[in-house]
Amino acid sequence: MADHIVPTIALNNAVHIPQLGFGTFQIPPEDTKAAVTTALEAGYRHIDTAQMYGNEKQVGEAVRESGIPRSEFFVTSKLNNPFHAPADAVEAVSTSIDALDLGPLDLYLIHWPLPEVGDFVETWRALEGEHKAGKARAIGVSNFQQAHLERLLAETEVVPAVNQIEVHPYFQQSPLRAFNREHGIVTEAWAPLGQGAVLDDEVLAAVGSEVGRSVAQVTLRWHLQRGDVVFPKSSTPARAAENFALFDFALSDEQMSRVDALDADRRLGPNPDEFNRV
Ligand SMILES: NC(=O)c1ccc[n+]([C@@H]2O[C@H](COP(=O)([O-])OP(=O)(O)OC[C@H]3O[C@@H](n4cnc5c(N)ncnc54)[C@H](OP(=O)(O)O)[C@@H]3O)[C@@H](O)[C@H]2O)c1
Repeated sequence: MADHIVPTIALNNAVHIPQLGFGTFQIPPEDTKAAVTTALEAGYRHIDTAQMYGNEKQVGEAVRESGIPRSEFFVTSKLNNPFHAPADAVEAVSTSIDALDLGPLDLYLIHWPLPEVGDFVETWRALEGEHKAGKARAIGVSNFQQAHLERLLAETEVVPAVNQIEVHPYFQQSPLRAFNREHGIVTEAWAPLGQGAVLDDEVLAAVGSEVGRSVAQVTLRWHLQRGDVVFPKSSTPARAAENFALFDFALSDEQMSRVDALDADRRLGPNPDEFNRV
C-alpha cells in the first residue's frame, strides 16, 4: 500500500508519527470497522480515536483483521472526561488497551483539560506513570491552551508529545502553534476541514483550480506544509481516498499566503477555557 509516501514526524521521545491519518469522530460504532477498513485500503496507517467516540473496539478489529503488521500502524486514543481522577485515569488506559486489543497504545491523550474539574496536572502525572510502565509509547494532550501547558511544563516531568487542537483555515491558532513548537510539542490539527465549513470557500476553490485539486485536498495540503499532523474524517470511501492523495502536488508560497489570509478567529468547537462538561 501507499503508506510509505506519508512523511513521519519525530515526536520529542523519538517515536515517529505519520503526518496524515484518519479521524473517527462521529463515526457510529456499527459503521467504524467498515470505514477504517476502507481507509486502510486507501493507504492510511494512522488512526485517531477516543474513548468518547465509543468506537475503539471497532477500530481495533479493523486493524487486527487487516492482515497488515501491527508495527505499520499508529493508533491514538484519548482519556474520556469522567476519568480525570488519577486512579480512574490509570484504569481508563487499561480500558482503552483492552478495547483496541492492539498491545501498547502508540499515543494517549488527555482529551480536554477541564480546568474547573479536578486538576489536570494530577491526571497528567497518572499518564506519566502509565507511559513509564510501557502502556503508551507516547503521551500528549488535546485542547490545552498555553496556560494549561505552562503548568505541565513547570510542574511535571514528561513534556507532552503532541497538543491536538482545533485548527483550520478559518481558525489558524498561530500563537498556540508557535508555543507548541517552541517547546517541542507537535501540533495535531483537529477539524482540518472545519468539519466541512471551509469547503465552499472561493479562495480555496481558486487555488484548487490552479493546482487541479479539490478544496479538501488544498486545505489538507496547506496543513501538511505548515508542519501539522492531520487526520480528516470521512465516511465516504471516495472522499477518504481523495484526502489521502496529497503527496503528488504542492502549494507555492504565494498560494500558502492566500490561505493564511483566510484566518477569521472562527472557532467551531467549545472554548477549552470554558468547557468543563464531564
Ligand atoms: N481532540 C478533539 O477534541 C477533537 C475534536 C474533533 C475532532 N477530533 C479528531 O479530528 C478528526 C477530524 O476532525 P472532524 O472529523 O471533526 O472534522 P473534519 O475532518 O474537518 O471534517 C469532517 C467532515 O468533512 C466531510 N469531508 C471529509 N472529506 C471530505 C471531502 N474530501 N470532500 C467533502 N467533504 C469531506 C466529512 O463528510 P463525510 O464523512 O460524510 O464524507 C465530514 O462531514 C476527528 O475525526 C477526530 O479524530 C478531535
